[in-house]
Order: sequence, then structure tokens, then C-alpha cells
Amino acid sequence: MESQFGGKVVLIAGGTGGLGRVTALSFLRESATVVVTYRDQREFAALKDQAAEFSSSLEGHRVDATNEDEVGQMVRMILSAHSRLDILVNAIGGYAGGSPLWLTSPEVFDRMLALNLRAGFVLSRAVVPVMLKQGSGSIVNVSSKAALDHAAGAAAYAASKAASLAMTDCLAADLKGTGVRVNSILPSIIDTEANRQAMPDADFSKWPKPEQIANVILFLCGDGAALIHGAAMPVYGQS
Ligand SMILES: NC(=O)c1ccc[n+]([C@@H]2O[C@H](COP(=O)([O-])OP(=O)(O)OC[C@H]3O[C@@H](n4cnc5c(N)ncnc54)[C@H](OP(=O)(O)O)[C@@H]3O)[C@@H](O)[C@H]2O)c1
Repeated sequence: MESQFGGKVVLIAGGTGGLGRVTALSFLRESATVVVTYRDQREFAALKDQAAEFSSSLEGHRVDATNEDEVGQMVRMILSAHSRLDILVNAIGGYAGGSPLWLTSPEVFDRMLALNLRAGFVLSRAVVPVMLKQGSGSIVNVSSKAALDHAAGAAAYAASKAASLAMTDCLAADLKGTGVRVNSILPSIIDTEANRQAMPDADFSKWPKPEQIANVILFLCGDGAALIHGAAMPVYGQS
């Protein structure tokens, strides 16, 4: 049976990262054409290797997703190659924390806003007009549990994720009645290699796997989620 993602063009921003990579592979297995952004050519080459028999359906663009010109050019290239863009997953983000606000540098604050907020703004601005013209599309923005759960030592990160959630909610309101759906997911700690290295003494078995979160992303982008628009879905199980 043909997969619901067969013939669909999926852009995964941050598609060589811990969650983005697994999400890219999941869409590829469902017969989608997948375009990822990357910053390090070696990471894209590694993803191509992992994609194995699906690698011909995988493309990459080296872009800084906070840069409007670079993102605009990438979207134009996707359209000229495929004439459509059905899905955007924004898996770009970064974490900085551990210090109280008054010891957090303005540089860290600006970096959190750039990665966790501006990238999603720039990507959405570039992609939404294409989806509106098509009369269909789905966007999933990867936010964080920290967008709602405001702990000590995370002022810059939590503020940037809360703002990205608010921005996505507003976008959902903007898109009402258009056929373009947008939702956020809220992960807590994910079982990625980077987290294992950062917290070697933690019990990894308790952490949600990127594959489990990718399953939710695919669900939100698929026909089964046609009624879900403007949701902020927790994806941290009972952890
Ligand atoms: N991992 C967790 O425990 C966790 C928890 C809650 C929420 N989240 C959120 O989930 C999402 C994915 O997390 P992750 O663990 O997969 O992070 P990750 O491994 O660091 O992946 C993020 C990706 O975004 C890329 N990127 C960063 N800045 C960019 C820019 N300006 N332009 C283009 N690409 C850029 C990174 O490239 P480089 O590798 O070259 O920097 C990387 O490939 C993020 O939004 C994160 O905040 C993660």
C-alpha cells in the first residue's frame, strides 16, 4: 500500500541533529522526499549513509536558518526541483542553562533567541506562502517542556522556547481556515548521543527515544491529525 507520505516533499530544518536525523529517516522510510538543512557537510554525508536505499530521496542544503536570504534561496531551490513543499519540521534549537539570569551573558541570551525563536520565524515566513498557494501543508515546531515549565537556571532557554510556542500559536490563528496546519511538540530530555555524553550517570532507559518523538511528528503531519491545529503536544511520557 502506498504510504500517505509518498510524493510529499518534507523540509526538516536541523535534519542532521539528534531528533532531526531520526525524523528524516522515518519520513524516508514512509516514501517521502526529504530535504534537510545542515551546517556540517560531514553530518549530512553520515545521514546519507544511514539513509541507505532511501538516499536518492534525501537532499541537503547548507544554510544558516536564522538568515532570511539563505532560507529564501533554499525554498526557491526546493520549489524549482519539486514544485511543492508539503511539510516543515523545525528541529533547530539549542540549550544553554545552569546559571541564574544575572549570570547569563547577553550573548547566550541572543543565541537562545536566534536558535529557538528566530530560526522558526524565518523558516515559517519562507514556507507558509508556498503552502497557502497549495492550499495545504503541515508545520511542526519542536519547542520544549521548558516553554511551559519555567525552572531556575533556564531563563534564556525557557524564554526563547516559550516565545517560540507563542509564535506558533499565533501562526495557527493566522492560518485558520487555510488548510495549512501548524502544531508544536514539547519534549523534555531526549535520549540523544549528546545528552548521554552530557549526563553520563543518568538512567538513559527513562528518556524518550528520538524514534518515539519522530512517530508523533509523523502523526501530526499525516491525515490522521487533520483535526489537530494549534496544539502543543507534550512528548515526554511519564518522565
Ligand atoms: N535533546 C533534548 O533533550 C531536547 C529537549 C527539549 C527540546 N529539544 C529541542 O528539540 C530540538 C532538537 O533537539 P536535538 O537534541 O536534536 O538538537 P541538536 O542535536 O543540537 O540538533 C539541532 C540541529 O540544528 C542545527 N542548527 C543549529 N543552529 C542552526 C542554524 N542557525 N541554522 C541551521 N541549523 C542549525 C544543528 O546544527 P549543528 O550541529 O551544526 O549545530 C543541529 O543539526 C531542538 O529544538 C531542541 O531545543 C531537545
